[in-house]
Amino acid sequence: MAEQKRPPNRRGFYVKMKLLHKHARPQQEKSCFFKYYKWVLWFSLSLYFFTSYLISNNPNGKPTSLHKTRVPNAKSSVVSRALFQSINVTAPEQITSTQGILKHLKVFVYDLPPKYNTDWLSNVRCNNHLFASEVAIHRALLTSDVRTFDPYEADYFFVPVYVSCNFSTVNGFPAIGHARSLIASAVQLFSSQYPFWNRSQGSDHIFVASHDFGACFHTLEDVAIADGIPEFLKNSIILQTFGVQYKHPCQEAENVVIPPYVSPESVRSTLERAPVTGRRDIWVFFRGKMEVHPKNVSGRFYSKQVRTVIWREFNGDRRFYLRRQRFAGYQSEIARSVFCLCPLGWAPWSPRLVESVALGCVPVIIADGIRLPFPSAVRWPEISLTVAEKDVGKLAKILEDVAATNLSSIQRNLWDPRTRRALLFNNHVQEGDATWQVLRALSEKLDRSYRSSRVSRQLVIDT
Ligand SMILES: *[C@@H]1O[C@H](CO)[C@@H](O)[C@H](O)[C@H]1NC(C)=O
Ligand SMILES: *[C@@H]1O[C@H](CO)[C@@H](O)[C@H](O)[C@H]1NC(C)=O
Ligand SMILES: *[C@@H]1O[C@H](CO)[C@@H](O)[C@H](O)[C@H]1NC(C)=O
Ligand SMILES: *[C@@H]1O[C@H](CO)[C@@H](O)[C@H](O)[C@H]1NC(C)=O
Ligand SMILES: *[C@@H]1O[C@H](CO)[C@@H](O)[C@H](O)[C@H]1NC(C)=O
Repeated sequence: MAEQKRPPNRRGFYVKMKLLHKHARPQQEKSCFFKYYKWVLWFSLSLYFFTSYLISNNPNGKPTSLHKTRVPNAKSSVVSRALFQSINVTAPEQITSTQGILKHLKVFVYDLPPKYNTDWLSNVRCNNHLFASEVAIHRALLTSDVRTFDPYEADYFFVPVYVSCNFSTVNGFPAIGHARSLIASAVQLFSSQYPFWNRSQGSDHIFVASHDFGACFHTLEDVAIADGIPEFLKNSIILQTFGVQYKHPCQEAENVVIPPYVSPESVRSTLERAPVTGRRDIWVFFRGKMEVHPKNVSGRFYSKQVRTVIWREFNGDRRFYLRRQRFAGYQSEIARSVFCLCPLGWAPWSPRLVESVALGCVPVIIADGIRLPFPSAVRWPEISLTVAEKDVGKLAKILEDVAATNLSSIQRNLWDPRTRRALLFNNHVQEGDATWQVLRALSEKLDRSYRSSRVSRQLVIDT
């Protein structure tokens, strides 16, 4: 579908000519450019390979030279584009075969001052806590072959603001009270400098909102609902962990449901010690907050009391391995378990969904109406069980039935490595991984791209 909207080559020229025209380069300078063409060519290629060497050899894994690679001015991007075109080697596009499936998607990553992103990485938790997809997606895009340095050829604009890394000194939880103002100030910054936000009213701009209730930026659902999504974000695309199948104010913007962040390294090292097909001596596993006498916080009970019921009903059952304390080695427990309970917390989603799948434990999802990430890549009904919140008291009976009937077929589906890959974010995009799935979802929304939609309108007029 969207394939047909892609511009033919001459359209590329049109875009570039506009760019040239816009910045009205003097004739003099142009002929100089052609005179020293070969030198410029040689220099740019060297520069390209040198920077790609730097990027791919970045030893500390932090996003490379974010604030050194300023948004290129129109002139330099025209030069480099012309070069690539003239030698007919579009190097970035030949790195992987991914491009075909991603329909030659092009994403421009805004280069924002470090106070919006990399400054927060001084706390290492910012890289790997459950909301860290805001960092992971940014990092992966920087070295991805869908990245373009020429904003005029971009389908989408990625806005890298890390809002989840202001960890409270009291309880260690991320304070997201500053999220709205931080994002608003970033938008203010680039919308006054560049035309791209205004020309589309933000509809081709992409933000990550990886905490409880997406772009509502609050942990408590009623407050989140009352606050709603900030007006200026409502026209954009939000990558969010929150998703439900019913109408909800915190998903009233175009969105893609993404998995919560789980470090692929931690999964890999756990699986080295305990492979997915290994011995599973725990029948049902849950570790986490489980209030015996839950407090009624502003009219709501944590986990809608589901976790309390689980504790009350099954704590005495020896087949249930239920723990309320934190334990750093919990991943090895998941790898030893047959069923892993994934009840709602304040929000319906939980990092347990990803950890269970990645470590081969059948997720038992207890969160009515939850919308799960990447349904076209992860066949959730075939790899997990869903138990209604009201049926949580019958959990033992339900799981016994599954164990006696189709458990082995669920496990076989679950242990397909493609499933695990789709839910994990890597430093560099790998075909089929979580960032790749985000890009695929975006490639299906190209009608939102200012550039693509203009090109397709133009084609209609032409023909
Ligand atoms: C340039 O690349 C296109 C397709 O990638 C190919 O059809 C064309 O022949 C190439 N032109 C030259 C001059 O190599
Ligand atoms: C971080 O959160 C605290 C509240 O916990 C707030 O006072 C502070 O202003 C925040 N920092 C920034 C840079 O927004
Ligand atoms: C975009 O619109 C805002 C508000 O109307 C304006 O302040 C800003 O200067 C505009 N940006 C550009 C690049 O024209
Ligand atoms: C929880 O608190 C709200 C008011 O904050 C109250 O209306 C509601 O009845 C309480 N629920 C229970 C079960 O006590
Ligand atoms: C396993 O059985 C349960 C209960 O009969 C059913 O709901 C579920 O769809 C089955 N799953 C698979 C993968 O066959």
